[in-house]
Amino acid sequence: MKRKFKIIVIPALMLMGLFAFTDGDFVTTNPAEIAGEPWLAPSEANDIQNPLEIDEYTLEDGMDIYSVNCLSCHGEKGDGDTPIAAALDPKPKNFKDPSFIEQSDGAIYWKITTGRGLMVSFKDVLSEEEIWSAVVYIKSLSKG
Ligand code: HEC
Repeated sequence: MKRKFKIIVIPALMLMGLFAFTDGDFVTTNPAEIAGEPWLAPSEANDIQNPLEIDEYTLEDGMDIYSVNCLSCHGEKGDGDTPIAAALDPKPKNFKDPSFIEQSDGAIYWKITTGRGLMVSFKDVLSEEEIWSAVVYIKSLSKG
C-alpha cells in the first residue's frame, strides 16, 4: 500500500495540482481535438539516433526514470492498465501493441519530448540521456 501510494497517488495529486495552478496550460493539445486520432511522429523523427549503448546500465537507468515519471499512467508492464489511464482520453497505448513496436526509436523519442494531450512534453523535465534510457526501457517492456 505504501508503494502504491508513492507510485499512483503522488503523481495523481501532482497532476491535479498542475491543473489547478495552470488551468491545464501545460497540456500541449486539447485532448478533445485528438480523441480517436492516431498519434504519428513526423518522418524526420526516424532520423534521430539513440546515442546510448543498450546494456544493463542503460536499462537500469531507464527503469528508474520510468518508475518515477511514467509508471503512474503507463503501468508497470507498459500496458496502460492504471487507474489514471482509465480516466484519460486518448489513453496511453499498450507498449506491446504492434503499432507501437513498429515505430523507430527516433519516433518514440520525438513523442516523449513533444507530448500530446495529457502525455506532457518531457523536454524540460528530463535530460536527453534520461529520455533515451526511458526509450530503451519501454522497448524492453514491449518485448516482454
Ligand atoms: C499523466 C499521464 C502520463 C504520464 C506521466 C506519461 N504518459 Fe506517456 N502517454 C500518456 C497518454 C495519455 C498517451 C497517449 C497520448 C495520445 O495518444 O495522444 C501517452 C503516450 C505515450 C507515448 C506514445 C505511444 C504511441 O502512441 O506511440 C510514449 C512513447 C509515452 N507516452 C512514453 C512516456 C514516457 C517515457 C513517460 C515518462 C517519462 C510518460 N509517457 C509519462 C500519458 C502519460
